[in-house]
Amino acid sequence: MTFQITIQPAGYQFPIEEQETILGAALKHGYFMPYSCREGACGVCKGKIMEGEADHGNYLGSALTEMDKAAGMTLFCCATPKSDLVVECYSAAVISDMPTNTLTFPFGAQKMAWPTEQAKAPEPELSAGEPTIQP
Ligand code: FES
Repeated sequence: MTFQITIQPAGYQFPIEEQETILGAALKHGYFMPYSCREGACGVCKGKIMEGEADHGNYLGSALTEMDKAAGMTLFCCATPKSDLVVECYSAAVISDMPTNTLTFPFGAQKMAWPTEQAKAPEPELSAGEPTIQP
C-alpha cells in the first residue's frame, strides 16, 4: 500500500510504501533529512509526527524513549507509515539544491560526496606497514 508523506514546514510531499522507512523514502525521492546510524541507535533522525500514524520499528530505548513517543516523536530511520503522514523536520532539504563537498582519503584516490545516499565511503585497504587508527 502506498501512502503520502508531507515534510513540514517546507511542504515537501512524496509517496511512501507501507514497508519503507520515512528516511528511506525521503532519500529515495531526493530529500535530505538528518541521520547517522540508520539503525535506531543514535537518535539523530528523531522527529515529530504531526498527523497520521506510524510503526516505530526496531530501535534502542535510549534513542527513542517512552517520553519521546508520548510527545509524538519517532525515529525517521526506523518508522514506517500506517497512514498518510505529516512530519516535522526543520533540516529537510532538496538534495540536488545542496552544495556538495568532496573528501579525498589519505589512503588513496577514493572520494566521497555528501549527502547523497550513494556516497558511502569504501573501506580503505591498508597495506602491511601502514599505520592504523585504534578506536
Ligand atoms: S539515524 Fe540513528 S537512530 Fe536514526
